[in-house]
Amino acid sequence: NSETTYDYIVVGGGTSGLVVANRLSELEKVNVLVIEAGGSVYNNPNVTDTAGYGNAFGTDIDWAYETVKQEWGGGIKQTVRAGKALGGTSTINGMVYLRAQTSQIDAWEKIGNDGWNWKNLFPYYRKGEQFQVPTDYAFLEGSGVAYDPAYHGYDGPLKVGWTSTQLNDGLAQVVNTTYQNMSVPVPYNRDPNGGQMVGYSVYPKTVNSELNIREDAARAYYYPYQNRTNLHVWLNSNVNKLIWKNGTDATAEGVEVAFSNGTTAVVKASREVILAAGALKSPLLLELSGVGNPDILSKHGIETKINLPTVGENLQDQMNNGLAYDSKTNYTGAASYVAYPSAEELFTNATSIGAQLLRKLPAYAAQVASANGNVTRAADIERFFKVQWDLIFKSHIPVAEILLEPSGFTYDSEYWGSVPFSRGNIHISSADPTAPATIDPKYFMLDFDFHAQVESARFIRELFKTEPFADMAGAETSPGLSTVSANANDEGWSSFLKSNFRSNFHPITTAGMMPKEIGGVVDTSLKVYGTSNVRVVDASVIPFQVCGHLQSTIYAVAERAADIIKAEI
Ligand code: FDA
Repeated sequence: NSETTYDYIVVGGGTSGLVVANRLSELEKVNVLVIEAGGSVYNNPNVTDTAGYGNAFGTDIDWAYETVKQEWGGGIKQTVRAGKALGGTSTINGMVYLRAQTSQIDAWEKIGNDGWNWKNLFPYYRKGEQFQVPTDYAFLEGSGVAYDPAYHGYDGPLKVGWTSTQLNDGLAQVVNTTYQNMSVPVPYNRDPNGGQMVGYSVYPKTVNSELNIREDAARAYYYPYQNRTNLHVWLNSNVNKLIWKNGTDATAEGVEVAFSNGTTAVVKASREVILAAGALKSPLLLELSGVGNPDILSKHGIETKINLPTVGENLQDQMNNGLAYDSKTNYTGAASYVAYPSAEELFTNATSIGAQLLRKLPAYAAQVASANGNVTRAADIERFFKVQWDLIFKSHIPVAEILLEPSGFTYDSEYWGSVPFSRGNIHISSADPTAPATIDPKYFMLDFDFHAQVESARFIRELFKTEPFADMAGAETSPGLSTVSANANDEGWSSFLKSNFRSNFHPITTAGMMPKEIGGVVDTSLKVYGTSNVRVVDASVIPFQVCGHLQSTIYAVAERAADIIKAEI
């Protein structure tokens, strides 16, 4: 049925794509086609098992994108995972449901994205959510599970809550008391999902609490609605590029699709093509369609349709490291303990770190611009960095995320600096849509990013030395004091951190929502500059990293995107 014309074609049936497809197809007169490269994972235990994080990695539902060797990141290539399935990356992610700090979303508006602020986005976080109120109060008491009813939505498609396997042995309270006993106490935060994230919390997940299975975008936004006759999904179908209508203005006629049997076809969209292929695919689809930097396009024999050099620029991710300790207890349940320290709680001397960083911003901006071929201008980058500096040192957003995961006789503590300054890029390496891209996040390019990572490790060491938790933990097994001594300076941490970090799998801003003059790829209606009917609605558009995890914000942005698109019908 590739002869048919659809009103909207959504490229990528992932986290954001299924939200937009669902909301548009609420209008009976509107015909929506979702084209998804992966298949259905409805019954895939690597997806549904709430204790199975990581089981899908390296399987055929993991794109497992590879970066170039990371010059400042130990010289090694990194694998950046992403889901290839109906539901996208929400089918393989860690299910953590944590939003952002109010001021971080307000920063989107500060750089010129009118209307994109916390006040306007908060209703969309709630619109998508079906918060499952924990009802077993015995379970609540020992688990530390808590929430503020006002922060949550109850009628949305996406189930959010805790599983019955949540540890209920009082460990959450021990950890809380320990945080209060730290040299700079970390406050208790009853519910971090209302826009104030600093503190220690027991966070919720995207999970069906009753059935104890993962809740993903397909389970929430597609399967319950699959009988809608105006909502169509093609699985195992790869979009190669956009097809333009004849004429000078860039109006997409549709897309070229490659099917698994080796054939290709052009499918037409009478209204719009909506890119939702993820931050490491949507910018490539733009380039393959002639939207991007003419120097890059011409190198691969692609004619420039729209000169938009920042497509694929501004790539930001975080660096994930871990410490591990022995535990005196054997744990079998799930835990969801998070600490979000602000700069004052993480850095030994926040005021002087802040002052030093402020002085370095012009040099940092120049370095980022130059490392990316001066496609993004140093002056613009410096402005973004000042916004980020204000967030850290004036709005006191969390500067790190510290997770604590008890498992068997082990405590793992994964962590990352929340807002690294380094920015890299992603571009096509060939006009062949199946060729791997050149991905370079430039992890650890700037020393502040490295220092935040070191201070997070020191913070975790302090946590494990602080009572009452100290009593429950044994020796540090990774890196261990013989590898990184107790009083190691930053240099002493370098080798361990840089040879053991991984991508935090939070790539953003590769088709950033910003005014065009400062490097934006999409405007505030998420339309690609210079096109009349092409939008991007996935992680690519998010202009700054958020302190929470990405999915809740991506769901909310996609919910708002759907309303913006509907308002134009
Ligand atoms: P997403 O990847 O969901 O969707 C893109 C879709 O497009 C995919 O289905 C893909 O197959 C498809 N596609 C790509 N190219 C195509 C083409 N050419 N044609 C057709 N289809 C195409 N976040 C969080 O909040 N909590 C967490 O615990 C975690 N944990 C986590 C763990 C891991 C391992 C990863 C990889 C990521 C996380 N994240 C996370 C991040 C979060 O899950 C992620 O940012 C979002 O799901 C991304 O949503 P998008 O809609 O941007 O892309």
